[in-house]
Amino acid sequence: MTFEGLDGTGKSTQLRKLAEVLRRAGHKVVETREPGGTVTGEKIRRLLLDSKTEGLSPPAEMALMFAARAQHIAEVIQPALDRGQIVVCDRFSDSTEAYQGYGRRLGSEKVLTLHRILCGNLQPDLTILLDSNPAISLGRARRRNQAATARIAGGPNQGAAKHSSDENRFEQQNRVFFARVHEGYRAIASRERQRIMVIDARGTPSETHRQILEAVERKLKLLSGVS
Ligand code: TYD
Repeated sequence: MTFEGLDGTGKSTQLRKLAEVLRRAGHKVVETREPGGTVTGEKIRRLLLDSKTEGLSPPAEMALMFAARAQHIAEVIQPALDRGQIVVCDRFSDSTEAYQGYGRRLGSEKVLTLHRILCGNLQPDLTILLDSNPAISLGRARRRNQAATARIAGGPNQGAAKHSSDENRFEQQNRVFFARVHEGYRAIASRERQRIMVIDARGTPSETHRQILEAVERKLKLLSGVS
């Protein structure tokens, strides 16, 4: 299962809440994220998201996203699936199609081809796409990452940050870039209607959570017995 959406739509919070409910229902759940999820992948993440990384070409950026993903599948995702566990991943190949395919204008075809070659075309059973107003969600993501960066600058005891380094490189893109990413997500969702559930993330976190539980139950019937 994967979570997708623009930066700042509340994916990580919602992913954590869903994983808790699934565990209470008796499932073994692996929570993970991209880019990252492995030691090598987290190194690639640092390179990709650090705002000091300059002049990375769009194809190189896409290749690094896939390098991290191929490692993540080999080391974490496929072994967990083979053990019968539920994998809940914060971002997956739809992010590459939306951000690199649409945002960087590399096109869907290249992304889908690399996904077939490097990821064995592995598809989530369900993708939750959190849809929000790009201006609002981006504002949230920027404030959060700047606060995290300030804590890093202030030393190691400045509170727990979600991000362990300066992760502002994507947030520095302009409105037009995120409008393209948003359009990309909508196009992917209308192509993949069976797999992708679009959830309106503009309400409160608990309202969004309730909608996600309904979607998960409807699609995967994983929650019977949980109130
Ligand atoms: P993430 O940590 O999920 O950001 P946020 O919590 O702000 O939503 O993802 C980091 C950034 O990486 C995000 O701006 C989107 C970008 N990204 C891509 O451009 N392509 C990809 O394939 C992935 C997985 C992420």
